[in-house]
Amino acid sequence: MAPQPRELASVDTLDTPLKLACGLTLPNRLIKCPMQETLAKAPTYDPPIDTFANLYTKWARANYGLIITGQVQVDIRFLSVLGDVVIHEHSLEAPYIDAWKRWASISKAGGTPCVVQLAHPGRMSPTGAGVRPADMPTMCPSSIPVKLGDTWLDKLALDKVLGTPRAMTLEEIDNVVELFKHAARVAHTAGFDGIQLHGAHGFLLSQFLSPHTNRRTDDYGGTPEKRMALLKRLVTAIRSEHPAPLCLGVKLNSADYMDAGQGLQQDEGLEQVRWLATCGMVDFVEVSGGNAENKTSGLHQSFGRKTLDRAPKEESTRIRESFFTEFAEKAQAMQSPVPIQLSGGFRSRNGMADAIESGLCQLIGLGRSAVLEPESPREIILNREIADDDAFARSHIVRGQWLAKLMPLQILGSSLSIQFFYHNMRRLGKGLASDPDMSIPKVILMDTLETLRAGLTTTLSRILQSLSVYRRPQKIE
Ligand SMILES: Cc1cc2nc3c(=O)[nH]c(=O)nc-3n(C[C@H](O)[C@H](O)[C@H](O)COP(=O)(O)O)c2cc1C
Repeated sequence: MAPQPRELASVDTLDTPLKLACGLTLPNRLIKCPMQETLAKAPTYDPPIDTFANLYTKWARANYGLIITGQVQVDIRFLSVLGDVVIHEHSLEAPYIDAWKRWASISKAGGTPCVVQLAHPGRMSPTGAGVRPADMPTMCPSSIPVKLGDTWLDKLALDKVLGTPRAMTLEEIDNVVELFKHAARVAHTAGFDGIQLHGAHGFLLSQFLSPHTNRRTDDYGGTPEKRMALLKRLVTAIRSEHPAPLCLGVKLNSADYMDAGQGLQQDEGLEQVRWLATCGMVDFVEVSGGNAENKTSGLHQSFGRKTLDRAPKEESTRIRESFFTEFAEKAQAMQSPVPIQLSGGFRSRNGMADAIESGLCQLIGLGRSAVLEPESPREIILNREIADDDAFARSHIVRGQWLAKLMPLQILGSSLSIQFFYHNMRRLGKGLASDPDMSIPKVILMDTLETLRAGLTTTLSRILQSLSVYRRPQKIE
């Protein structure tokens, strides 16, 4: 039987190359979002090539238009979770730089460009995540502790885990600029196509951009213009040291929706996008939203098969899947000369194509689906064997969310669903497939057993080492 003709307007839209101002051509519009892999190991947290070879090879062969790595910390004292990759003072030297070069070549092996996301968690660095003395406080533009949950137990746990940050001195701000510049040099030397600055989700740069965490009255705070000063300084410094063809992107929050209008509001967020779009130094802006403190980053939202099983174009020409559509519509009105990447909530091919065709954005970020189905661009979204109306990335629904509701501490409950994605990235790192049907309780159980097993192995090997030291034959004179 002759194959049926298919209406593939949506795949045509997504499978269109885009040339950035730096000269880099993205082969299509699907971007693998930055997602921290939690696979690097102490003491130096260099790129763990044994596991990254499996994980990044999957993404490299998946036919994305661009791969953005998980966030890489620029300051080894402050990680956002244990297992973050870090750029440290020796990363430019052998043998450390070799791991960076291997990572770049693995990620780019399929012909897809790859940029490294650079980050600093600021006040979001838990105790134990980072090589720092136990009593060293985290840093923030102003001394504003994270608030998560109202019970005394929540407050106690937060105090133990994150504590009260110290307001940064001007010298510390200068030091952060130097750390980001050093990190950009490492990414460039390693052979990556560029870098992306993480200015979203409540991390340090976003702490400077938000009036909630930035109450400074010096050159770095007090007005919307001054709250942007650190980001502007970084963009200018990095661009002047690395002109095109190095690609420079920035990830921003659309807003952080704090109570009583204290946080970053949409108008200020739009001005931040406007500056980045018109400064002539940035190649793309990724728009996301929220932060861990208010649970609006989109990771707590999901679309299941029920709601999205069919998204036929002819029935709804404005599908609007993205979590941050309203902000993107306002950004659209400013006719940004640089491409906007919209991340959060996309699942259907038609929904993604609609966002581009209506001018909402030029690039589509895929996060959780890149973990659950790492090769979904090649296998589903850009697969011309699948009709537009039938092409969906996998549901983001995580089983066993009831456990989060049972947790007495909000700080624990709200971080459980992200553990599911970390766990699946670690599976991919081991060369296994993701297990999208695994429930949160099972993830927690397996991770606990793994930690115990690793702890036991370390302890046993220490005992054995000490035995061999004590039994070493005495030298006979
Ligand atoms: C496990 C996990 C880790 C993430 N790590 C990062 C990160 O390192 N940097 C970042 O900017 N966003 C990070 N994000 C957010 C994603 O980049 C993306 O904005 C978010 O998942 C929304 O897209 P989605 O609805 O397609 O998942 C992470 C998300 C997940 C699920």
